[in-house]
Amino acid sequence: MDLSTQYLGLALKNPLVASSSPLTWELKSALELQRAGVAAIIMPSLFEEQITHEQAKLERFVFQQSLGHSEADGFHPVLSVYQDYQYRYLNQIKLLKQQLEIPVIASLNGMSEGGWVQYAQELELAGADALELNIYYIAANPEETSEQVELRYLDTFQSIRENTRIPVCVKLTHQFSSIVSIALRLQQAGAAGVSLFNRFYQPDIDLETLKVVPRLELSSSAESLLRIRWIAMLRHQLTMSLSMTGGIHHAEDVLKGLLAGADITCMCSALLLHGPAHITQVLEQLNLWMMEKEYSSVEQLKGSLSYHHAINPAAYERANYLEVLDSYSYASGMMV
Ligand SMILES: Cc1cc2nc3c(=O)[nH]c(=O)nc-3n(C[C@H](O)[C@H](O)[C@H](O)COP(=O)(O)O)c2cc1C
Repeated sequence: MDLSTQYLGLALKNPLVASSSPLTWELKSALELQRAGVAAIIMPSLFEEQITHEQAKLERFVFQQSLGHSEADGFHPVLSVYQDYQYRYLNQIKLLKQQLEIPVIASLNGMSEGGWVQYAQELELAGADALELNIYYIAANPEETSEQVELRYLDTFQSIRENTRIPVCVKLTHQFSSIVSIALRLQQAGAAGVSLFNRFYQPDIDLETLKVVPRLELSSSAESLLRIRWIAMLRHQLTMSLSMTGGIHHAEDVLKGLLAGADITCMCSALLLHGPAHITQVLEQLNLWMMEKEYSSVEQLKGSLSYHHAINPAAYERANYLEVLDSYSYASGMMV
């Protein structure tokens, strides 16, 4: 069975990738993921806030030094001491690249242009095979229009793009008026792929303390359906790579993502729940299903149920709406 796939110009041995999580940071768990059969890892993000915070700290320090000892400008301290987190990140890329055979994709998480974007180049120099840009932006300003929000995405991407030569993929939210349009504009701006979709973590209200508290819930397979629809709708309209992230727990989810047109399927929650060995199981079931259905390669099944190829493409669209509502069956005793 040929499970190989192309993603962001990288040749991957199979379509299972471990997406950003603490498991893709530590060498030990990254090695376990590789042993279990994962084709690539995406490191946890380096955040714009972390970079700008370090930069601000550094500027404050240098400024104070200059004020205090203007004659000693040549003796400014070694920068590395004050750029802890960034250096740790670069060192971790180097370590993972030295120890792993599979590609290592670095990740930046931000929402604006600015000095922090220059960091993309450092990630490339440290050896990252590609870069995922997670633009995590909550559009809550009433004076900012949808077009301006989209421009923010495009400008942020563009400035990252200008700072690196490795392929860059953008991890998108589904909260756009036109997903197809923003994806197409990113492709035209030079994106090598999009990853669908980012999950926004929702704040909750604690009724005891009456405080707003952060809440991180792991996903379930049900979340994959949103991704399947949009991957299927986008596949024939884009030439860049498509990654599916969110709700991939079982071989069935992987297969549906590939049939819809994904080039890779990423796992995070399932790996946190079941550990890296879960990958081996999923790969076995993937092989088994493909054998039973007489597919000989992942390439052969990729996109065969995309909007373009499905027998009933309208099922991906509004036409399906009434049918779905009609298909609801009431729980026993609840018939109206
Ligand atoms: C504990 C944890 C840490 C995560 N860290 C990051 C991160 O640093 N950057 C990022 O882009 N996504 C991050 N994610 C999101 C995941 O990579 C993934 O896209 C998301 O959880 C959806 O996939 P899933 O349904 O398989 O969990 C994190 C998720 C979890 C649960």
